[in-house]
Amino acid sequence: MSTTLTPVLTANWDQPNSFTLDSYGEYEAAKKALGMDPDAVIQAVKDSGLRGRGGAGFPTGMKWGFIPQGDGKPHYLVVNADESEPGTCKDIPLMMANPHSLVEGIIITSYAIRANHAFIYVRGEVLHVIRRLHAAVREAYEKGYLGTDIFGSGYDLELVVHSGAGAYICGEETALLDSLEGFRGQPRLKPPFPAVAGLYASPTVVNNVESIASVPSIIANGAEWFAGMGTEKSKGFGIFSLSGHVTRPGQYEAPLGITLRELLDMAGGIREGHQLKFWTPGGSSTPIFTDEHLDVPLDFEAVGAKGSMLGTRALQIFDETTCVVRTVLRWTEFYAHESCGKCTPCREGTYWLKQVLKRLDKGQGTEEDLATITDIADNILGRSFCALGDGATSPIHSSVKYFREEYLKHFEIGGCPFDPKKSTLWGEQ
Ligand SMILES: Cc1cc2nc3c(=O)[nH]c(=O)nc-3n(C[C@H](O)[C@H](O)[C@H](O)COP(=O)(O)O)c2cc1C
Ligand code: SF4
Repeated sequence: MSTTLTPVLTANWDQPNSFTLDSYGEYEAAKKALGMDPDAVIQAVKDSGLRGRGGAGFPTGMKWGFIPQGDGKPHYLVVNADESEPGTCKDIPLMMANPHSLVEGIIITSYAIRANHAFIYVRGEVLHVIRRLHAAVREAYEKGYLGTDIFGSGYDLELVVHSGAGAYICGEETALLDSLEGFRGQPRLKPPFPAVAGLYASPTVVNNVESIASVPSIIANGAEWFAGMGTEKSKGFGIFSLSGHVTRPGQYEAPLGITLRELLDMAGGIREGHQLKFWTPGGSSTPIFTDEHLDVPLDFEAVGAKGSMLGTRALQIFDETTCVVRTVLRWTEFYAHESCGKCTPCREGTYWLKQVLKRLDKGQGTEEDLATITDIADNILGRSFCALGDGATSPIHSSVKYFREEYLKHFEIGGCPFDPKKSTLWGEQ
């Protein structure tokens, strides 16, 4: 495994006007792909080993291969640009700095799955990104890279930028499709999966921004080039977003399998005078890790084997000044707010988790409350209609596992030990 950075998607971010077509280049990869058989494009992506960058890591080429061919129905590509997971912050800067990698990836993907209509479903609050996407799409139309007879190939593609109204659940792919169709965004029962009955009940591929933006580089440089980076089952590079108590937070594009220790070395370490306490490998829905996990290779398998998930590589770093109970409460408030209400375990469970955690945070809880939050989380996990409910349990289970003592301290001293007035038990804070 290489430990150096591998800037591909981020390579041009510091160039002036990196977001313009002039700076990006002439869509050479799309030109090449449109000269290939669509199945050969799918095969190249399969051979590259690219796995979805939206969290679950499903093989991208395999997903495209599920789209039935010759079925006489329209096919759609929908790009998931909802990015609302706490800590996750890679797609938005990518679309800001390098929107043409996404547009070019959309052309290649749509051609491969035989779609003539594609959509970017973007989170509604990020108006600056929406404007930038509109500008990039306009430029591509003006150049003839979108529209009819692209590169004289006879292939037509229309691309629509659609902004959501700001709901985390609309990042779940089937809720996203309902929202895109104009309904309230709530998850659909699966099966049927979107590949069979997605947008307007037609075969649809839903992929993350980073997954699609990675495709032009695979077509341009070859599947072997991509597969030469990363680890055995987690190929290629990805954007690792370091945030929180780190000296130089930011986006670090590196091969999958890099460790937090290596990333922290490049990021100047934990902020001066402090030590790592806990961190998320892939956003708030992934169980927290501690300093024992600094050397875990950040790929799908190794992170899973240690009891968490690679998720979106949103590395939120917390030092010893952070109260884990307060952090878990904050995340839980988010999940309770964003629960769509469709199923009882998540709707009720996240509400009650929040109530009990508030009590624990104030030091007014009991040891029984710890059993209660664990029990509530057990009743959400695996019993909810979609993965939002499961994700809400990750901070609970993992924080109780690693920081039980810290929960207990709260009610021993009748408050938060990180509150300066109560800090004697924890030394200098
Ligand atoms: C509550 C929830 C929110 C999600 N939000 C996003 C998101 O913002 N972006 C994203 O790509 N995937 C998100 N996902 C995952 C999608 O359902 C889907 O797996 C993904 O878009 C597939 O793309 P990929 O195969 O390229 O990773 C979310 C899932 C859940 C359950
Ligand atoms: S798990 Fe939560 S977000 Fe998902 S369907 Fe149930 S209530 Fe809605």
